[in-house]
Amino acid sequence: MPSSSIPKTMLAAWYETQGPAEQVLEFGEMPVPEPQANDVLVRLHYSCINPSDIKRRNGFRGQPHAFPRIIPNSDGAGEICAVGKDVPSSRLGESVWVFNGQWKRPLGTSAQYICIPSSLAVPISSHVDKRIAASLGIPALTAHRALFSDGDIKNQTVLVTGGAGSVGNCAIQLAKWAGARVLATVSSEEKAQHALKAGADLVFNYQTQSVTKEILAATQNEGVHRIVEVAFGENLPQTLSVLAKHGVISAYASDKVPEPSIPFYDFMLKNQVLRWVFMYELKDKDLSSALSDISTWVNKVEPYPFIDSVWPIPEVVQAHQRLESGQAVGNVLIETI
Ligand SMILES: NC(=O)c1ccc[n+]([C@@H]2O[C@H](COP(=O)([O-])OP(=O)(O)OC[C@H]3O[C@@H](n4cnc5c(N)ncnc54)[C@H](OP(=O)(O)O)[C@@H]3O)[C@@H](O)[C@H]2O)c1
Repeated sequence: MPSSSIPKTMLAAWYETQGPAEQVLEFGEMPVPEPQANDVLVRLHYSCINPSDIKRRNGFRGQPHAFPRIIPNSDGAGEICAVGKDVPSSRLGESVWVFNGQWKRPLGTSAQYICIPSSLAVPISSHVDKRIAASLGIPALTAHRALFSDGDIKNQTVLVTGGAGSVGNCAIQLAKWAGARVLATVSSEEKAQHALKAGADLVFNYQTQSVTKEILAATQNEGVHRIVEVAFGENLPQTLSVLAKHGVISAYASDKVPEPSIPFYDFMLKNQVLRWVFMYELKDKDLSSALSDISTWVNKVEPYPFIDSVWPIPEVVQAHQRLESGQAVGNVLIETI
């Protein structure tokens, strides 16, 4: 897009104090931000909402309201329409997905444009559906770290709990791409179908089946080599029964039981690894390995489009409420174009 056709203002959604979506989210016109030396300006097509965007708006665990005005959401996709003076002009026109858009920065992706450091805008083939590209950020980086933090998973058996969650579904897909056998847990038949479509080999309903029994039967009593865990504290008894010796549990959430008691000797005597995953602050080498693998995966294998709903920017409140309701199955997107 020639710089002359970049408008002066854009549609955006924002909040200026923390609180419930319907009380604090506003929608209107704002100036289009100008790229600093190392920034790119991305014309966004979609913004994706993640639970952390909701948690930040709600002040979860005492998170402060860090900026006077916040445009929520960290993930999105679009194309680069302007670059700062230190960014090669060859990036102009690139299709990109963006991550960490509203991590320690005020202006996220719930807008028609975002200015973001060039390194947070990752090239992607223009053939990839922009809704899929916008859904990569937090889910794919979390899933990658959880799966690959402790080495190759080819021919390993991986358990993904919550296989129809945004992170879980992406973890199934990445684990299959990497050559693992994947078992997943879900809580309904609809969710089982999403886990199977993502590539899971076996799916168990943790509400109606004995997951421990099923997993031990499916692994000839050896247990699984990796667990990608969405509910660490709640599932701890299950983990202790199904994680193989030398196995790794990568936990990225424990919402219902945030302070579990950890049976040290049970883990120690099996040489198991407890791996905590926090995708926002990865080491540089882990981030580059994740970006490289995700790019290879997404450009070679069209990911499963795991989309719950798409909302126009003026319906940002409803979009946030949809994710917050716990009823969404798949990614909740805001169309920004
Ligand atoms: N540490 C990090 O860097 C990081 C990164 C991304 C996300 N997160 C956090 O991870 C959590 C999930 O994020 P998300 O985007 O994937 O959310 P999501 O799309 O809502 O998925 C969560 C999934 O977990 C399932 N679930 C809940 N309790 C379960 C249990 N005991 N066993 C198996 N499945 C269970 C839910 O389904 P049912 O309730 O129907 O079972 C749902 O499918 C959020 O708390 C988020 O803030 C952390």
